Amino acid sequence: MLETLTIRTPDDGHLHLRDGASLAAVLPHTLERFGRAVVMPNLDPPLTTVAQVLEYEKRILRLCPPQSTFKPWMTLYLDAHTSPAEIHEAAAEPAIIGAKLYPQGVTTGSASQVTDPLELMPVYEAMAESGLPLLVHGEDPDPATDPYERESRFVDRTLVPLCERLPGLRIVFEHVTTRLGVELVRSEARRMGATITVHHLLFDRRALFAGGLHPHLYCLPVPKTEADRLALLEAATGGEPCFFLGTDSAPHPRSRKECACAAGGIYSAHAAIELYAEVFEATGRLERLDDFAGRFAAEFYGQALNSGQITLVKDPWRVPDHFPLAEDELVPLRAASVVPWRLLRQASRV
Ligand code: DOR
Ligand code: ZN
Repeated sequence: MLETLTIRTPDDGHLHLRDGASLAAVLPHTLERFGRAVVMPNLDPPLTTVAQVLEYEKRILRLCPPQSTFKPWMTLYLDAHTSPAEIHEAAAEPAIIGAKLYPQGVTTGSASQVTDPLELMPVYEAMAESGLPLLVHGEDPDPATDPYERESRFVDRTLVPLCERLPGLRIVFEHVTTRLGVELVRSEARRMGATITVHHLLFDRRALFAGGLHPHLYCLPVPKTEADRLALLEAATGGEPCFFLGTDSAPHPRSRKECACAAGGIYSAHAAIELYAEVFEATGRLERLDDFAGRFAAEFYGQALNSGQITLVKDPWRVPDHFPLAEDELVPLRAASVVPWRLLRQASRV
């Protein structure tokens, strides 16, 4: 008998689906595994109005098979021109779960012109007033800041002052990567949550350079030290409701990864819950996966829990070396390597 693990249908607290042919190529991986996903708005151009977000939601839903119950949790993109009125409109729209801040230049699709995130105070005030959470890419936008220091700088320069100034603002510290970030989330847990990616749990910064440069392991924020990774592991597997699953799965064509200036982003949607299971098992805390993956994000966002379940079996399988992506190819995490847990496919889910 193969070992099995049955958990509540999980939610992905942070996901990039892109648009057009890329959206069609990657969406099935998420539909198979997750009941809902917080969908990032950093398209080209970014989704800065409620109307654009709702049009995007329709394009996603159109690609879901008729029997699918998948629900995208949509987000609005904040930039230097976002008005408090747009925030109130977003907050009144049930399909929109939060608004995302990408400080200028920190990652793919971050031409927000927000060079000092504290300049958006009227926007944050409207968010606090209307109860719309702020989802934040927590890296300092100053180009002079060392990439390994960007998160801790952001904590000191932006997040701590913001927390002091607006106690009523709910915040998600997206893809937290440092011990300092984890500690801030804990100390603000009453109103702050954080997503943790599976790649930041699986490896530290050494992996990018092991035997050569690995562009497919390059993501933003960059993985930090082993001590930071251990802090993330403790946070993810410790049963604390302020830490929840968010893959940050971010598809880029092979030609944008294997080139002179590689784009940041790791694709993990094809094996996301399986890889989290591997990580949780390695810590001896597999029983904690259920709440991390299927409870805490929903509770943070004030949503009902999924009613279904998924089952994983301990039956090692080999990840394909690539998937088709529009006119190009997508190289997934663990390409051509083995993943110990396998998803038991249920015909009724997708
Ligand atoms: O590595 C990343 N890729 N980090 C992000 O914050 C954005 C993402 C993307 O959109 O490709
Ligand atoms: Zn992201």
